[in-house]
Amino acid sequence: MVQRVKVNIDGAIIEAPRGTSVLDAATDYGICIPHLCHVPNLSDIGACRLCIVENVVNGRSKITTSCTLNVEEGMVILANTDKIRALRRNLAELLVAQAPNSRAIQDIAVRCGVKEVRYPFRNDNCVLCGRCVRVCTEVWRSRAIGFVGRGKNRHVDHPFGVRPQFCKHCDNCVQICPMTIVPCDGPMQTGKEYLCGKCESQLLTNENAPGGCVWCKLGEGFGCGRYAGKKAATARM
Ligand code: SF4
Ligand code: SF4
Ligand code: FES
Repeated sequence: MVQRVKVNIDGAIIEAPRGTSVLDAATDYGICIPHLCHVPNLSDIGACRLCIVENVVNGRSKITTSCTLNVEEGMVILANTDKIRALRRNLAELLVAQAPNSRAIQDIAVRCGVKEVRYPFRNDNCVLCGRCVRVCTEVWRSRAIGFVGRGKNRHVDHPFGVRPQFCKHCDNCVQICPMTIVPCDGPMQTGKEYLCGKCESQLLTNENAPGGCVWCKLGEGFGCGRYAGKKAATARM
């Protein structure tokens, strides 16, 4: 029988099966901790760090990613402190700078309270979240893509840059990528580096977004419970 444990997340006492991540326990309960690289039923690699929380042990708090932290009996988690919000906002800004034309990332940035981006746009078209690599390896049992290179040169590619015969052509790697989940209206081109009006207005006008669900488009791609709930509610109307 699966043992259940009780954890305190932002004051809510939540019961979850042992082995559940803090992120999943919070999301299942209805507390949205912003996250990008986490995908239900795929392994977690803690790449984006957006899901950081404070894990309070003996009065001292340690900042850690909630997708890679499993629930334990009596655990106390703070997911929405000023410190966490500031760190998360900075991480989200860096992600937008890295991939400014991803609507999914812009939505998450809005959720994290980003109103302007202080970093130069790099337009990498990849934030190294590893969603594509994991879906290929773990769902399709194909290793047709993987991370290549180090540091600034790190990117996702086929082995030796050529699509191998064992690629299943399932396209899941594309469907799960935050660059492609919802196309941005104004894709950037070299030399024309700006956010399209729609995205810019999202970032600039969402006064009340921090702390609230913004139905980020990423939820559509990976089945966020809240996004699914909204769709069901819309369908009933
Ligand atoms: S299309 Fe090919 S590379 Fe992409 S997930 Fe499917 S098997 Fe992997
Ligand atoms: S290609 Fe897309 S899914 Fe793959 S690591 Fe880059 S941003 Fe993530
Ligand atoms: S969702 Fe936890 S580090 Fe990305």
